[in-house]
Amino acid sequence: MKTKNHDAIVLSSSDEKKVFGQFADCFKSSPLPDDEILPNIGLFLTSKNLSRILFFYEIYKKILDTHGIIVEFGVRWGQTLSLMSSLRGIFEPFNRHRKIVGFDTFEGFKGMAQEDGELCNCKEGSFSVTSNYEDYLDKILFLQEQLNPIPHLKKYELVKGDARKTVPEYLKKHPETIISLAIFDFDIYSPTKSALEAIQPHLYKGSVLVFDELCDDVFPGETIALMETIGLKNLRIKRYPMTSRISYLEIE
Ligand SMILES: C[S@@+](CC[C@H](N)C(=O)[O-])C[C@H]1O[C@@H](n2cnc3c(N)ncnc32)[C@H](O)[C@@H]1O
Repeated sequence: MKTKNHDAIVLSSSDEKKVFGQFADCFKSSPLPDDEILPNIGLFLTSKNLSRILFFYEIYKKILDTHGIIVEFGVRWGQTLSLMSSLRGIFEPFNRHRKIVGFDTFEGFKGMAQEDGELCNCKEGSFSVTSNYEDYLDKILFLQEQLNPIPHLKKYELVKGDARKTVPEYLKKHPETIISLAIFDFDIYSPTKSALEAIQPHLYKGSVLVFDELCDDVFPGETIALMETIGLKNLRIKRYPMTSRISYLEIE
């Protein structure tokens, strides 16, 4: 099933979708006063949504004693980037080196290839966002920083454009980059492969890589990209029990 406006895939059953719709209505028509909505946001967290947060909580703890930045490949509405910013605020509010950098076209998929198969039924532009969404997300990430120590030092960056071009460009501009955590969520083969190739010199023993679609028949391209770059043989691909789709590995 796809979402109406942005061609994003939803794997929920129609019954589940109905309940999610009712949940969304409850959220939109919430009787909570404005100044109590955010502190009570847990009211609207379903087990499915909470599981993703718990996964990233575990992953963040893994990188605490490692040096370097966090990158996300495929940002979309930016929930993971925002979550990373909150986790940085909780665990290491003074770590100004823990920059968080997100790459996205902010115009949906770009560079679909044969390796992406037919099952996802996606096209160029699937998983798009609203126009100029990056400005809204920039504001959210700015506000996140204002609520934590050293807010005068900007510690995030959004890089708009086709990642096959922007990732190498970014790394050329920032040759000092060391990657502590890379989150792969482009879903598709070509930008995933380009990003995997580009970041190799910036990884080290202990870098953590997270993948959203490994071993996923709907999006086979991500697995193929990993096989063709780092290769599977020498990797320990692990997961946490609370999420079925996200996996991670540490460079050894
Ligand atoms: C599944 S969404 C990412 C979801 C996000 N990580 C989250 O936590 O909600 C996939 C994203 O990859 C982006 N994308 C796909 N191909 C791209 C490319 N060639 N360059 C940059 N971004 C791309 C899409 O625009 C889309 O926003």
